Amino acid sequence: MDKREVIQQLLPKSSTSLDFGQAWAPINIALCKYWGKEDSELNIPKNSSLSITLEKGTKTEIKPAATDIFSLNGEVVATDSKHFVRLFRYLDHFRTASVPFFEVNSWNEIPTRAGLASSASAFAALVLAMNQLFQWGLSYQKLSILARLGSGSACRSIQRGFALWHKGVLLDGSDSYATQLDIEWPELRAGVLLTSTEEKLVGSTEGMLRTVVTSPLYAVWPAETERQVVKLQESIEKKNFEVFGQIIESNAMMMHATMLASTPPLFYWNCETLRALQKIWELRTSGVAIYPTLDAGPNVKLFYMAAQEEQVQAAFPLLLPLRPLFRCAKQ
Ligand code: PMV
Repeated sequence: MDKREVIQQLLPKSSTSLDFGQAWAPINIALCKYWGKEDSELNIPKNSSLSITLEKGTKTEIKPAATDIFSLNGEVVATDSKHFVRLFRYLDHFRTASVPFFEVNSWNEIPTRAGLASSASAFAALVLAMNQLFQWGLSYQKLSILARLGSGSACRSIQRGFALWHKGVLLDGSDSYATQLDIEWPELRAGVLLTSTEEKLVGSTEGMLRTVVTSPLYAVWPAETERQVVKLQESIEKKNFEVFGQIIESNAMMMHATMLASTPPLFYWNCETLRALQKIWELRTSGVAIYPTLDAGPNVKLFYMAAQEEQVQAAFPLLLPLRPLFRCAKQ
């Protein structure tokens, strides 16, 4: 099935349009990661994943226009740029007789290049804004699927707090969407150590494909991550931070191990990444419970408890604290 057919099945048969639609969506950090596509046209993953949304995100406004226009943080984006092409290739599926072109204005609360999954909050905000523009009145389940078709991890940014992206088993992906766990953990803290703001050389789609096709270690990844997702969920329910931390660290390391064993090797870290990891491990030995996770980039995301905030900030003065966001979206 192709993307267009799936989208047509999700949208109401007829819709009206307002003058504009506007929405905000949070970024999310995967605690057990999405790495590998079962279907690359529909972004159906090889394994389920579990994430947490943070307080920063993307605000997007969309309106009918005479020609396609895209501005990011107040600056017009060139029509031949990667961001523009990706956005309008997706929006091609939503053009109607009365809305043949779109003007999209987006504001990212964190730097686009900081490796903080801004495509997740961007596609989630876009889908929510279109839901308003076209008055679709879609459920969170369908909005999550639409966001997934823009960028896989975006399906989790439709939700708030802990979001579980069920990989699903159906070929059209109609059971591959994120739901939110009905749990808040107010003492949980997160932060980001920016070790580089350079754009990564290998994007996640290409990186996943290379790992799935060439890495002999990839064979263990999907089943082991499914197992870790279950264990992680249990640790969240019990609010057992040590087990939570061990699982998120282990899952991130396993993902990077599968990447390293690819041909050619995929290595997203830099020297600062390693220095940060070593410091985290030293701190842990001295009794500060702090655990890292890393995505397809060199920046290190840290998780710790509120009680250790001061110690963590003293150890990492450049840490960018980002509070988890638990306020529930209505289901
Ligand atoms: O949604 P994508 O294509 O940007 O992939 C995200 C991949 C990771 O960030 C590495 C993991 C994840 O689950 O978010």
